[in-house]
Amino acid sequence: MRPHLKSGFQLLLGILLATVNAHSWVEQLMVIAPNGTFVGSPGYARGNHLRTSPEFSDLTMTYLIPPNGRSNQSLILPTDKICKETQRKQEQTDGSPRLQARPGAAIALRFQENGHVTLPENQPGKPKNRGTVYVYGTTEPREDENLLDVHKVWNKEGTGGDKRGVLLSVQNFDDGRCYQINNGPISENRQEKYPHVADKLMGADMWCQQDIALPSNAPTGKPYTLYWVWDWPTLPGDDPSVPNGKKEVYTTCIDVDVVDSPVTYMHMEAGYIQGQPLDKAAIPSQLAEIFGSPSPAASVTAGSSAAASAMVQSIEIQPVKPSTLVTVMKTVYVKECQLTPETSVTASSTASVVSASSAIVSG
Ligand SMILES: *[C@@H]1O[C@H](CO)[C@@H](O)[C@H](O)[C@H]1NC(C)=O
Ligand SMILES: *[C@@H]1O[C@H](CO)[C@@H](O)[C@H](O)[C@H]1NC(C)=O
Repeated sequence: MRPHLKSGFQLLLGILLATVNAHSWVEQLMVIAPNGTFVGSPGYARGNHLRTSPEFSDLTMTYLIPPNGRSNQSLILPTDKICKETQRKQEQTDGSPRLQARPGAAIALRFQENGHVTLPENQPGKPKNRGTVYVYGTTEPREDENLLDVHKVWNKEGTGGDKRGVLLSVQNFDDGRCYQINNGPISENRQEKYPHVADKLMGADMWCQQDIALPSNAPTGKPYTLYWVWDWPTLPGDDPSVPNGKKEVYTTCIDVDVVDSPVTYMHMEAGYIQGQPLDKAAIPSQLAEIFGSPSPAASVTAGSSAAASAMVQSIEIQPVKPSTLVTVMKTVYVKECQLTPETSVTASSTASVVSASSAIVSG
């Protein structure tokens, strides 16, 4: 009986640890054709470890700020780097090349939800949108880039902070479609709604994605750097182990080779093709944001980026631009979106996120 109990306990512990450790990073990037289909070869983050490589573990790819062990888990220091040690240099590992994309290309950054979306009860006190994902872009990255010099500082106009970069995209971590296979109601519902044929890459899971556009004035013949930042705070009052809440940020640092491609996808030539295999296609609402907005070059100068985001829309209470491409059905979490750089995060404003209402915007 005793050994049996012990092994049961170890199994349970193993599951708990697996749940705790299984955080997310950008596993792969793909170029998106205007019809929504992923095209070309995948690209990868700096210093990538493929899941199939022998030295892989989650810890080889996850990067947490503030780090475990900092006594104040709400404290992000001005010197906390934006990139994991293995992702500070613009270097790739064997078998994980950079994405090749032309200026202005639409790109999907793909990540696994690992239960953060489909098993929300696993982590009390987390925002309803499962955290917010930001993508910043720059042609002048720094090896010792600090998180606080970029995150919620660089803006879509390129006028934030030291002006070396721009905010390209803000989305909910939950893209509305992704799931890991489990018996939770969210997963079961999505398995039925968004079926796909299991493949070697994702298995039966459906990965999440954040769809962005490179600036169309990104210089060719050199890399363009993307900083992916997942902001995933614990709000005060829900998790007894952190009564005052805590900050929890994960990042992935990525370079994309900007190339002069002979292939030119005209932004307006095609719409998202309904009914195509979902595991090789963009999220229609996110694609509409990219192709339905002014082109990134125009936006850099005109000050309204291709990265028109759920957050921006909900703050400014702007309707989604009518798009000839697709029908937009987007859920934005209005209260969550008040957690912006301009808004100081107080106990009351964060607590109100728990009762966040959602607004359906259709256009
Ligand atoms: C979308 O366009 C790409 C590039 O032209 C093509 O390879 C792909 O097959 C198209 N997708 C569908 C579903 O037709
Ligand atoms: C922890 O850091 C946060 C953010 O700087 C600060 O507001 C808070 O007072 C700190 N808590 C303690 C116990 O020092």
